[in-house]
Amino acid sequence: MISMRTQLSFANLAGIETELLAVLAADTQTAKGPDAKPEPVLLTADEAVKAAAAAVLASGEYKAGANETLLLHAPAGLAAKRLLIVGLGKQAKATVHSVRNAAGTAVRFTKPRGIRELAFALPEAELLAAGPCARAAIEGAFVGDFDPDTYRSDRKDQSVKSFTLAVPAADKTAVEAAFAEGVIVGESQNFTRSLVNEPGNKLTPTILGQRAAEMAAEVGLGWEVHSTEKLHELKMGAFWSVSQGSEEPPALIVLRYEPEGLAKDDGGPVLGLVGKGITFDSGGISLKPGADMDKMKYDMAGGAAMIGAMRAIALLKPRVRVIGVVCAAENMPDGKAQKPGDVQTAMPLTPDKPGKTIEILNTDAEGRLVLADGLTYARQLGATHLIDAATLTGACVVALGMINAGAFSNDEAIYAKFDAALATSGEKFWRLPLGDEYAEQIKSEIGDIKNTGGRWGGAITAAEFLKVFAEETPWIHLDIAGLAWVEDSRPYIAKGPSGVAVRSILEWVRSY
Ligand code: BES
Ligand code: MN
Ligand code: ZN
Repeated sequence: MISMRTQLSFANLAGIETELLAVLAADTQTAKGPDAKPEPVLLTADEAVKAAAAAVLASGEYKAGANETLLLHAPAGLAAKRLLIVGLGKQAKATVHSVRNAAGTAVRFTKPRGIRELAFALPEAELLAAGPCARAAIEGAFVGDFDPDTYRSDRKDQSVKSFTLAVPAADKTAVEAAFAEGVIVGESQNFTRSLVNEPGNKLTPTILGQRAAEMAAEVGLGWEVHSTEKLHELKMGAFWSVSQGSEEPPALIVLRYEPEGLAKDDGGPVLGLVGKGITFDSGGISLKPGADMDKMKYDMAGGAAMIGAMRAIALLKPRVRVIGVVCAAENMPDGKAQKPGDVQTAMPLTPDKPGKTIEILNTDAEGRLVLADGLTYARQLGATHLIDAATLTGACVVALGMINAGAFSNDEAIYAKFDAALATSGEKFWRLPLGDEYAEQIKSEIGDIKNTGGRWGGAITAAEFLKVFAEETPWIHLDIAGLAWVEDSRPYIAKGPSGVAVRSILEWVRSY
């Protein structure tokens, strides 16, 4: 992974020699109505910068709307060759998350213009806390730098070479650690995006396993990648039932993080991160329609989010054990593929217990099948708390659109921690309900449960299916079907893989 170089600067803004200096502006107008004109102000105390921008701000041409940009060449009194003003929108509503996006906007502004180096000025700490802002800005810069055009033969590498975060000197200690964290988190989110971006022919389950193993070796995680034999040995009948319809062997990817200096068996929590890794979802025998089927190369985004989160965990070293389990397979309509009506037996938690039986009504509801065995395996490996991420249902996209991802949980305490993590990550998840009445919808006549619950409440019945395998273990399920792929580019992020859930899962882990 070639990556953007990042550094901190505590120098005076006016003196920073750079191709482009980005500064933030916000609209301070609080009145409403037709006469309330925007009142944009620069969020810096630097008099020279304020003077350079004074005329254009007074002109009324620039409103400091969220991610609205304005470029000035050869700004008077500054060492920078260009001054870029990036809007945060209304000052009263500005948050660290707006700063994250603004940093991405600044980076994406430079890329098509061939500017490879920039400095980004943090707002004054009285407005927004310097530490969280520094971290968010660095994350946003990495997110903005990513473009998905990997396979263009005429690809011009427009990635930014160097990003300097300019911080008022008074905030030095507050930002140093946060800055380093931001680099790790931003790079890890982009690692996830690079995996999700790969097409199904380039990223088979086997290759996904290799990529995870390489990363694990690099950052010092324990790892194992298993295939068909191990699935049979563990009696993973649900996972295998998906994989059996493809020429490509499955990959059961296990990543382990052991914090240094924790006594073995100290009774502390073990967090299990379980990801859906369908490298291509054709639907199987319940074949999907042709339109948009290509999108199903990103059906491993949940698994990739877990792999990216494990990378960040290895580097940030929280004091808690973490196990990552990614169930990777292709869902294909081969002669050996499973059929609607088939009954499969899921992995038993212990060899003396029978596995639950699943009636397959639709082979396109494959994510919950691989996750069922993934959740059981994580528990067998000792996980005391579970979180899973999956591009699981179109129904979740219908319910929440592409703004919020779905979240579900069987336990208030575990969910409270996740909810708190969202304040740091800035990602949008909306909790949806579970309940016995929904569980009724997936009862089978021939076996224990069926793999679809009918049309209504499809995101919820899918979650109820997973809950059967989490059993009493505190568990969170994230349905990221609507957010894993950005359908329209925004000023701060390219169209393509988003890397959603990496930051939230990481923060949740760090809260233990
Ligand atoms: N991978 C899909 C869900 C999906 C849809 C992801 C849109 C991303 C965007 C999943 O495997 C699937 O096919 N789900 C079915 C379930 C149904 C058959 C019960 C669905 O949502 O239609
Ligand atoms: Mn499917
Ligand atoms: Zn799928």
